[in-house]
Amino acid sequence: MSRGRFITLEGGEGVGKSTQLRELAAALRGRGINLVTTREPGGSPGAEAIRGLLLTGDEGRWSPRAEALLFAAARADHVEQTIRPAIDAGQWVLSDRFVDSSIAYQGGGLGLGGEAIRALHRFGSEDFLPDRTLVLTLGEAEGRGRAEERDGGASDRIGGRDAGFHRAVDEGFQRIAAEEPERVRLIDASGSETEVTARLLAALDDLP
Ligand code: TYD
Repeated sequence: MSRGRFITLEGGEGVGKSTQLRELAAALRGRGINLVTTREPGGSPGAEAIRGLLLTGDEGRWSPRAEALLFAAARADHVEQTIRPAIDAGQWVLSDRFVDSSIAYQGGGLGLGGEAIRALHRFGSEDFLPDRTLVLTLGEAEGRGRAEERDGGASDRIGGRDAGFHRAVDEGFQRIAAEEPERVRLIDASGSETEVTARLLAALDDLP
């Protein structure tokens, strides 16, 4: 049986990621691909329990290091319980966020640095990486505007952080794409939903 593929979808707040995840999954299934979708933080029973710890409560509930470790712990469980078994069984896995979110949010936004997050990932998940990572990007004003429209201004512990934090997150994603151009592709999230889905699909065309 051929090995499945692991694709991740990433981006800052308000870039239309949830809609695109749904559309991309439907398009891949339409091509006859046996696909499972999953999300982070979460995607396995243990990681979903950790999700509650990460996304609710006071902004200052966790120190930056503790927050990064919780994301890494959730990811270790998600990889082991959900992602690896599916891929080994020949399925494709599409995840809403993965380690690049930690590099951008905790590494960039919280200032821990990308290398610290990569080290946690090497330990926690044996450096298991996606075959391709698609990062949806929008100009800052447009992205935050869309996030507020969707949430009515309310957000979770992390989404609700200030504009400076989210700017550092966006820069983090840009840096990852520059460092790993083969794995990571920046996708313009402007235009119609159909146009954006077509861009995402095109960015999977050269997958080995
Ligand atoms: P979620 O409700 O899934 O939001 P979104 O629609 O933006 O994906 O919340 C996930 C939040 O957690 C989001 O603000 C991004 C953040 N996050 C991190 O800070 N680090 C991580 O490693 C991951 C996976 C998510």
